[in-house]
Amino acid sequence: MLDDMKRKAAWAALEFIPRHTVVGVGTGSTVNHFIDALATIKHEIKGAVSSSEQSTAKLKDLGIPVLDLNSIDRFSVYVDGADEINPDKHMIKGGGAALTREKIVAAVAETFICIVDESKQVPVLGRFPLPVEVIPMASSYVARELNKIGGRAVLRAGVTTDNGNVILDVHDLEIRHPIQLEAQINNIVGVVTNGIFAIRAADKVLVGTPAGTTILK
Ligand code: A5P
Repeated sequence: MLDDMKRKAAWAALEFIPRHTVVGVGTGSTVNHFIDALATIKHEIKGAVSSSEQSTAKLKDLGIPVLDLNSIDRFSVYVDGADEINPDKHMIKGGGAALTREKIVAAVAETFICIVDESKQVPVLGRFPLPVEVIPMASSYVARELNKIGGRAVLRAGVTTDNGNVILDVHDLEIRHPIQLEAQINNIVGVVTNGIFAIRAADKVLVGTPAGTTILK
């Protein structure tokens, strides 16, 4: 059921992909459906920029060229999932540990289209533990600093990011001011990125439901 809602949102995104351009591609199970959809128009796009090794492998498997982000000034659309999204289109991301590259690729895109199943919609962010990517030697220090702001940081066991770093998952946060908290956590020395996507929120949200897909503009 959940997977069906993810598939609906992902395939609905195809309508918003301009032809003859580069497409930004996120990471995760919802995005995997989007990559399947994108493959059906692969001869009509210039290629993709990818936010993870996982998505890169799937894109290449399906014959979609993967381009280096440094070779592109700007592109129109980035499509990605989220772990939580609030009514202001602020998100928590990073459940798949790809948050840093996701935030980088999203920064270069003109439009961020978020594709989610309806279970990801929340009034206030924070029930999903907030992922924070950290330089390994700083993980204990950063965990202590995150605990000072009211969270409970837990090292994600056995996970190394595509960038060679570790992930702290911060439990027990009630994120009432996402823009401020995103900036505050980014200021802790040793933090590479945190999974609040609020300074750069989504522009359009496609929500998969049992009945179809709803668009939040
Ligand atoms: C990857 O690090 C995440 O940001 C994903 O975009 C997020 O976890 C959503 O994943 P699913 O589409 O698998 O729910």
